[in-house]
Amino acid sequence: MSESRDQLNNKRAESLLGGGQARIDSQHKKGKLTARERISLLLDENTFCEIGAFVTHRSSDFGMDKQKLLGDGVVTGYGKVNGRLIYVYSQDFTVFGGSLSETHAEKICKIMDMALQNGAPIIGLNDSGGARIQEGVVSLGGYADIFYKNVRSSGVIPQISAIMGPCAGGAVYSPALTDFIYMVENTSYMFVTGPNVVKTVTNEDVTSEELGGASVHGSKSGVAHFTVQNEVLCIQDIRKLLSYIPQNCEEKPAKIEYHMANELRDSLKDIIPSNPNQPYDIKEVIEHLVDDSSFFEVHKNYAENIVVGFARLAGRSIGIVANQPANLAGVLDVHSSQKAARFVRFCDAFNIPLLVLEDVPGFLPGTDQEWNAIITNGAKLLYAFSEATVPRITVITRKAYGGAYDVMNSKHIGADMNFAWPSAEIAVMGAKGAAEIIFKKDIDSAADKNAALKEKEMEYSNLFANPYRAAERGFVDEVIFPEETRVRLIAAFEMLENKVVNLPRKKHGNIPL
Ligand code: HXC
Repeated sequence: MSESRDQLNNKRAESLLGGGQARIDSQHKKGKLTARERISLLLDENTFCEIGAFVTHRSSDFGMDKQKLLGDGVVTGYGKVNGRLIYVYSQDFTVFGGSLSETHAEKICKIMDMALQNGAPIIGLNDSGGARIQEGVVSLGGYADIFYKNVRSSGVIPQISAIMGPCAGGAVYSPALTDFIYMVENTSYMFVTGPNVVKTVTNEDVTSEELGGASVHGSKSGVAHFTVQNEVLCIQDIRKLLSYIPQNCEEKPAKIEYHMANELRDSLKDIIPSNPNQPYDIKEVIEHLVDDSSFFEVHKNYAENIVVGFARLAGRSIGIVANQPANLAGVLDVHSSQKAARFVRFCDAFNIPLLVLEDVPGFLPGTDQEWNAIITNGAKLLYAFSEATVPRITVITRKAYGGAYDVMNSKHIGADMNFAWPSAEIAVMGAKGAAEIIFKKDIDSAADKNAALKEKEMEYSNLFANPYRAAERGFVDEVIFPEETRVRLIAAFEMLENKVVNLPRKKHGNIPL
């Protein structure tokens, strides 16, 4: 008996060591944690239950039969985050560089199946040299099995990826199919082809960091939703993200206890500058509207002309989409439309109500935008809002011009409640542009053209640069003072809590991709 106990103890100890102490030390020297250290930071204490600790690969080519390491480069299992079940896999770079073999893939697939069947989020901690080179096509098949399951799980359970080391070649596509990607600054990178191939094909000299480091994907490509200074902060951030989202698409996000107090926010009274062309920071408005320090921004450094993120309102989790007048005047363009559309679809898939703060002068003009398909990309946002069945509320703080008025969660595309502040200007376009077009003849024939333009601009502005025309039609439900907004939002989201919408039967829609 004691012999068999010893055997298990030895095997456990061997498995805990992964690729051995020397490789663990080398991992630490690179400023990286091991797969197991990451898991223990992610999960509540003593909740990790491992599955497949003794799995080994089956290959024998290139002397691999003599190099079998328990666990085969990935630690998998389940545990709890803030008391809620999650599934996790964490690639172990100390074992064959965390490379993906047939059995490594099988371990990940097993966990993915369990997460889907039991309706809980799955977190993938990626640190891998890619396909196990010694295994060839079975490794590629393993990737495809994972991709397929990513897609099957999409919209059913939240899927979160953290990149904590290399992630190259086709390996990038599993994270890309998940809901959120975290990247750790300086130690992680993602690219389809590395610097050497790039040099051969395009003759560009580029480092891994320049090609696919965290800052590139967090700001230029938008591939990464979050970039974080180090692994510890990254894992803390994942725990925080999980607190805003439900376990699966059948559940609502957890509501945290909130005691109502004076919910008027006088600080919002003068937040809109008197000059309609002067920028202000919409994040300040958000901070004043939501529960203290509850705003959790997604895609912070990408397409900054739109702000998206989670927050709490009287303890309820909501998703916020807000034009940012402090960046490009809050205009909608290709990237901001994509960014917002993706966020709206996540919130809708997981029953997170949406709050839209609107101050948008329209779509960005120009060849760059047209040639990069602002038509198709703007349509993504229009589509995403239109198909969303979660409670949806819009607050027009200032400009709501042109097609962007329709797109930004207007009543016409199914918003439940639309509020406007007295500073709202809801019109086809700004007063100057409108006057130049419709009063062109009058202005051209006037002795003082500038004075004539000013006069006509004023005339148009008095008629349309306000919220009351829209309110007369019921396109705006209420014109409210900024300081009342939080009170009204809390009441409206509570009123909409049991909203039910039945969509026409279909296989799936065809969002303009
Ligand atoms: C097998 C691998 C491996 C791999 C690394 N190792 N990558 N073993 N298959 N893909 C092993 C190394 O042999 C080494 O073993 C250990 O992991 C650590 O690797 P090092 O090179 O010493 O580490 P480092 O200097 O940090 O460099 C890491 C690296 C480099 C940049 C990831 O190892 C590398 O370039 N690896 C190959 C990457 C690659 O081309 N992968 C295939 C991509 S194509 P020892 O025993 O010395 O510790 C792909 C297609 C997927 O993935 C398609 C899906 C559809």
